[in-house]
Amino acid sequence: MTRNETQETIRNRRSIRGLIGPELSEKEIHSLIELAVLAPAPHHTQPWRFAHISQDKRNSLTIAMGSAWKKDLIRDGVKNDQITKLLQRSSQEIKNAPTLLLGCLVSEGLNQYVDDRRNTAEWGLALHSFGAALENILLAASSMDIGAYWISAPLYAPNEVKESLDLDDDWNPQALIALGRIDPTYIPFKRQGFDLKKYLIFC
Ligand SMILES: Cc1cc2nc3c(=O)[nH]c(=O)nc-3n(C[C@H](O)[C@H](O)[C@H](O)COP(=O)(O)O)c2cc1C
Repeated sequence: MTRNETQETIRNRRSIRGLIGPELSEKEIHSLIELAVLAPAPHHTQPWRFAHISQDKRNSLTIAMGSAWKKDLIRDGVKNDQITKLLQRSSQEIKNAPTLLLGCLVSEGLNQYVDDRRNTAEWGLALHSFGAALENILLAASSMDIGAYWISAPLYAPNEVKESLDLDDDWNPQALIALGRIDPTYIPFKRQGFDLKKYLIFC
């Protein structure tokens, strides 16, 4: 890929929520994960783990995450009919994704300190690295004409996700990635224009 093609891939990547089947082949999933794990990571660690979530597991997963979210929404004072709508939408997104991956972080190889300040910073490094790995997946998917988008719900209900999928205790759920073919009628959200001066200063 030339330098311009790399730039085009970055520019063209969008969150595609209009996904249709068929599901991704095992080969396609392998290609995406092989690229994900080329992401930069702190101290040469490899803190990412991915689980492919079969259709069989999706109902229990949505119930587990939904019950945790519902408690939060009730605490926030959200009205019942709105809660029902939000939970239904989230459940449909998860069940309708032709392919669904869960991304997790493990602490293997990370430094352990005697103080919380550095332990929090160290986990921050792992979180940065997770974002880089996920971006690799999104860019690779886009370049393969596969639609994809990030679903952050697991981060709000990590224990429920872990339990419902029977994950190893050290796997810390971070995000779901919904993947599939691109519905030709789907139109991505309009991107806001941006003023470089807001994002960059020269000190
Ligand atoms: C940390 C993170 C969490 C996100 N969570 C969600 C989500 O839960 N559901 C969703 O539809 N999109 C989610 N997105 C996608 C963003 O909404 C999207 O990237 C943003 O609107 C910019 O659009 P683009 O990806 O098409 O450029 C998330 C993105 C990031 C980086």
